Amino acid sequence: MAGSNNSPIGVFDSGLGGLTAVRALRAMLPHEHIIYFGDTGRVPYGTRSRETILRYACQDIAFLLRCGVKCILAACGTVSSTLPSQLTDTLPVAYTGVVSCTAQAAVRATKTGRIGIIGTAATIASQSYERAVAALLPDAALTAQACPLLVPLVENGYFARDNQVTRLVAQDYLRVMQQADIDTLILGCTHYPLIAPIISDIMGAHVTLIDSGREAAACTAQLLRAKGLLSAHSAAGGVQFFVSDSTDSFARLAAPFLGGLSAQHVSHVCIDQETPVSCQKGGLYAGGLSHQH
Ligand code: DGL
Repeated sequence: MAGSNNSPIGVFDSGLGGLTAVRALRAMLPHEHIIYFGDTGRVPYGTRSRETILRYACQDIAFLLRCGVKCILAACGTVSSTLPSQLTDTLPVAYTGVVSCTAQAAVRATKTGRIGIIGTAATIASQSYERAVAALLPDAALTAQACPLLVPLVENGYFARDNQVTRLVAQDYLRVMQQADIDTLILGCTHYPLIAPIISDIMGAHVTLIDSGREAAACTAQLLRAKGLLSAHSAAGGVQFFVSDSTDSFARLAAPFLGGLSAQHVSHVCIDQETPVSCQKGGLYAGGLSHQH
């Protein structure tokens, strides 16, 4: 191959949501090694201020860079909607978020142009998905809805298809989508694909669900291929997990989503002590965030 790089792929999210991207990456690129960081000690991100989300994300990125990753996937709609390109463009490794690839998939899928977007409060307030979809399909009719209760429900293990609490909450949030007669629904938070069966039951089979975790994984694979950064290993890769809270509860909750993978290698990291990466005119430096507006 033209070029190769055997370093790991870095993936992060506030908690379990990024596993939707990890699962897809494992299927697409089985020879790659992945380092996953879930900020379980500080989840949820989506109800916090922009400044807090930026600080958390910049600490998460600093940790992954310290692990020697060759690229970073922010498998989090909230972070992807908040991090400015001035920062991500100056990272020393390739970076991708979830918003633009997910918007592209939604535009490919829709037939009527009536697209729904659900995400965290921060993501919906940022209007990132609306902008990305409108840039590709200016005539699209978009309906957006913040669903702040869904992430805590998922993080607490309320994701079984027959879970009546999650179903009731989702029904309430999705009513506006039913009224808007959408044919495509963007699951704009990577936690939501974990409850896709419930969402699909409510919306009906005629609505295509767009999984932001899977779309982001596809973009990452494409990026690595284009940059000649795929691993030259022929042996099976693996995933190393890091979390900022209990390793046991992460392993227990993550296991059902890893499609045969084991979460036994989960380590704890003190993410609060990580010096956030940031950017200034001269490029990347460690030590406090510059103010971006
Ligand atoms: N899974 C993340 C997202 O895609 C974060 C959710 C949260 O922590 O609020 O938005």
